[in-house]
Amino acid sequence: MNPYLRVNVEVDQPGRGVRSSDIVLAVLRAAKRQPQSAGFRLPPVRILAHQLGVSKNTVAAAYDELIARGAVDSVPRRGIFLCGASHPSDAPRAAGPPNPRFLAPSMAPQGSAAKLGVDLSRVFIDPALLPRDQLAVCFRSVLRLPGIHTFYDAQGYPPLRYAIAERVRRRGIPARAEHVIITTGSQQALDIACRALVDKSIATENPAYALGKRLFEMNGLRVTGLAFDPFQGIDLPAWSRQLRAAKPSLLYLTTNFQNPTGYSLSTEESARILALANEIPMGILEDDWGSDMLPFSEYRPPLRALGGSNVLYMNSFTKKLLPAIRIGYLLANDQTVGALVEAKRVSTLGNPTLMEAALSEFLDRGYYDVHLKRLQASLDERYQLCLQLLRQHMPDGVQWTTPGGGPLLWVKLPSQVDVTHLQRRLRSHRINIDSSSASFFGTPHLHGFKLGYAFPTPRELGDSIPKLARAIQAEMELS
Ligand SMILES: Cc1ncc(COP(=O)(O)O)c(C=O)c1O
Repeated sequence: MNPYLRVNVEVDQPGRGVRSSDIVLAVLRAAKRQPQSAGFRLPPVRILAHQLGVSKNTVAAAYDELIARGAVDSVPRRGIFLCGASHPSDAPRAAGPPNPRFLAPSMAPQGSAAKLGVDLSRVFIDPALLPRDQLAVCFRSVLRLPGIHTFYDAQGYPPLRYAIAERVRRRGIPARAEHVIITTGSQQALDIACRALVDKSIATENPAYALGKRLFEMNGLRVTGLAFDPFQGIDLPAWSRQLRAAKPSLLYLTTNFQNPTGYSLSTEESARILALANEIPMGILEDDWGSDMLPFSEYRPPLRALGGSNVLYMNSFTKKLLPAIRIGYLLANDQTVGALVEAKRVSTLGNPTLMEAALSEFLDRGYYDVHLKRLQASLDERYQLCLQLLRQHMPDGVQWTTPGGGPLLWVKLPSQVDVTHLQRRLRSHRINIDSSSASFFGTPHLHGFKLGYAFPTPRELGDSIPKLARAIQAEMELS
């Protein structure tokens, strides 16, 4: 007969009754403390209930949970037995195969800036501004939808596609749900677009969105970087020369708040780029991630609204709603949707419907519009605060762009300041900046760094920008 496992239940607050979760923890702890206990029996429900002075239901619920976790096995008419723990470290070590040579080395920066006190390099939004509770309500609600647990659609959850098409129409873009492809963040939209290309060549801004650039390179695309300066705008004759020489099949551009410069295209620039795309000819992939962050929902026409349905359009909810929701979308047309859905299907079959359904409900209830209004007002406050702090504290010779809102701007440093040295000096104040070196094609033609003001709290901004200014001053005095 197998021995019984001794279960000592601890309750963390005196006077609180024993819950089934306490029993679950007690069994798991007891099993861990006694490595030889695999096969031990758990006390019968009525005996443990009596021992602990709780109802049989409480113990039965705990045992069900332990079975669901695979910690115990129920053997009909014999009892419930602890499963054996498998310790991978106990397994004999076989000589592993060599590292595959075809994998390129990682270019990801080593070490995480997240451990630092204030990170001024992020384009994320302060989590305190994000509507976690309302989203939780939507998650609970969709879990009860019939059929939701088994359904997925390679193109994305249809009600969400309808809701997105409706939102996009409000931005002056005629759109139908059949043309919307839901993606895992807009990053997957980029991935799908470049994997579906027949002619593997693309052009983008220089400096570029770094993980977009890296993605294109990893997909084996020929990538042309089109240099621009956020203080001067786009040198269209220079772009035209480069594009005519490179003849990329696609031009990937960010309409508002380009990462890393914070630059937004003027309507005139957009119109001239569209004309150029027709002449070359090349397709356009528009990244409109910034539009929902425009102060007070200011309207700036997207390239897709100006240029028609051949412009591939992408946007995302990740930054503005919740990073963890990881939902973006791509807007195609009759000719392109099939190949793009296929490119998505072969990579993921379909994305998590539950997540998509929760977002769909969030949009349907009108929560997103209310959230955006508040978010835009908060972002505007932070933008204004950031400008005021820069004006107040930055030494002469430092310049910054004024993107009008959104999450980031570009700071230009006097040439004598060594950015890497400045970064190191700031680390001792627990402040992180990023020179965006991974965004440039070749030697950077801009000397400075991006400043993200949406992620730090106003207090952190008020504390870190004067320190940043003093560190720049100290670097200037070194030379
Ligand atoms: C300009 C731009 N586009 C696309 C992305 C991808 O973001 P996500 O996949 O979270 O939508 C980012 C991420 O920072 C970005 O900065």
